[in-house]
Amino acid sequence: MTKSVDKKWWKESVVYQIYPRSFMDSNGDGIGDLQGIISKLDYLKTLGIDVVWLCPVYESPNDDNGYDISNYQGIMHEFGTMTDWEELLEGLHQRGMKLIMDLVVNHSSDEHHWFVESRKSKDNPYRDYYVWRPGKNGEAPNDWGSFFSGPAWQYDATTDEYYLHIFSKKQPDLNWENPKVRREVYDMMTWWLDKGIDGFRMDVINLISKAPGLPSMKDGGDGPRFINGPRVHEFIQEMNREVLSKYDIMTVGETLDVTPEDVIKYAGTDRHELNMVFQFELMGIDSGPSGKWEVTPWKLTDFKKIISKWQTSLEGKAWNSIYLNNHDQPRLLSRFGNDKEYHNKSAKMLATMLHTLQGTTYIYQGEEIGMTNVRFDTIEEYRDIETLNRYQECIDQGQEPSEVMESIYAKGRDNARTPMQWTGNHPHAGFTTGTPWLTVNPNYPEINVERALADEDSIFHYYQKLIRLRKQHDVIVYGAFELLNADDEQVFAYTRTFGEERLLIILNFYDKPARFEWNWSKVEAISGERTAELLISNYDIPASEDVRQVDLRPYEARVYKLSK
Ligand code: NOJ
Repeated sequence: MTKSVDKKWWKESVVYQIYPRSFMDSNGDGIGDLQGIISKLDYLKTLGIDVVWLCPVYESPNDDNGYDISNYQGIMHEFGTMTDWEELLEGLHQRGMKLIMDLVVNHSSDEHHWFVESRKSKDNPYRDYYVWRPGKNGEAPNDWGSFFSGPAWQYDATTDEYYLHIFSKKQPDLNWENPKVRREVYDMMTWWLDKGIDGFRMDVINLISKAPGLPSMKDGGDGPRFINGPRVHEFIQEMNREVLSKYDIMTVGETLDVTPEDVIKYAGTDRHELNMVFQFELMGIDSGPSGKWEVTPWKLTDFKKIISKWQTSLEGKAWNSIYLNNHDQPRLLSRFGNDKEYHNKSAKMLATMLHTLQGTTYIYQGEEIGMTNVRFDTIEEYRDIETLNRYQECIDQGQEPSEVMESIYAKGRDNARTPMQWTGNHPHAGFTTGTPWLTVNPNYPEINVERALADEDSIFHYYQKLIRLRKQHDVIVYGAFELLNADDEQVFAYTRTFGEERLLIILNFYDKPARFEWNWSKVEAISGERTAELLISNYDIPASEDVRQVDLRPYEARVYKLSK
């Protein structure tokens, strides 16, 4: 019996994330731009994606590459003009693709006119748009730390007070307690939606409500008191009522430190908040107790446990976002696959997983050609504020530069931000005719779009095939997940079931052969399945192969459709 499901376009979609600064430069200034993206729309259409998530393109002094916005309704000059942006939207829509914009409203830039006013005097009408507090005994108002190293407070001599910045000191936190701030945000969102966009990705949206009194980290609570704060659901429900509910759009919130119970509140079907969120549990699998820079080996059994937990606990209650990298994370292939001997096979194996879990699939630019992490020789070649602050902090504490560089090679955000590799035989991979703002990964002669398009066996063409399969089989989108082999340290196998349809997915996560055995007669007894049709694999598989006992080659992936 087919269970009735709530079918939605944003569940069936594959989203492609563009980091504009690094995608394609059209005017030779070394910085990616909107016309560059426009010139690649046919490429995106060929890949088959449905939605583009565009990282911030608004006016910004670029302390954090556009996540510090000084005008929410203007386009960053390096990226082009509003007319370019309109052309981009039209170009996407004409080709049957949608556009979601990044909404960064936990904080603005310190160069936003609200903040410029706010810092002028304690009685300025914009004062209360931000979080200002007097110091305590000559020190910051409390002990909160910034995600980008150091305290989360900056002293401002003009009014002898501190302002809160959970990210850089050029990213002051907006005060969501102030109804005027919320009104400004909702009006701005409405303005973009009326321009025809198809939704928002909401930056750190679960940080917008801060605990009253801004209590110390030591005063109870089980984490920083600005995560999942007391009014966060009230604010998001208000945003939904005032704005989101009026449009047929897609919304995905970025939420740090959340449990499935929390996510069911943010994205539960009956909650009137968001469609889905990004949670980061899997992204923490190779971090130690001190956080992301403490690089720690990960185990497949833990990896499976995390995926299984999210797949099963949200089933029928909320919707997952499926991703393995983005502009803040290392490249998935370098982290979870093998970016050397098994570059092609392991990229395809990971892609098979990404496209066969329940949830909306997100591809980060360059993933579809197997772009990898980068190792620059010196810190001078890095650009990311988080990386640079971290490096300085470690050096100040007496750590060895080489040791700090190792953690940057593994976890630094610039791994994902090196320019897109379009060609093998042009300088800078054809990304720019000028000098790129961040050096191109030197492996571009081997790894580039031109080569991928010319090779039938490329990672690109495998992604294309996976995306096509999603459109052909409801079970890929809607099927319920079941883990088959929790204790196996090498193979990840699971089924997806949707009414009469069932898929069997088998993935070898390592460079050693593996055997996967499953109890076919038991399955047959339960559901009567008798035949297994191979839908996709990253190796050639003899038609006669017996699926009861599968011998897998390094990084082999198979998807079977089981029928009666
Ligand atoms: C999350 C974004 O993804 C990241 O790039 C940014 O630095 C922070 N939020 C602050 O906006």
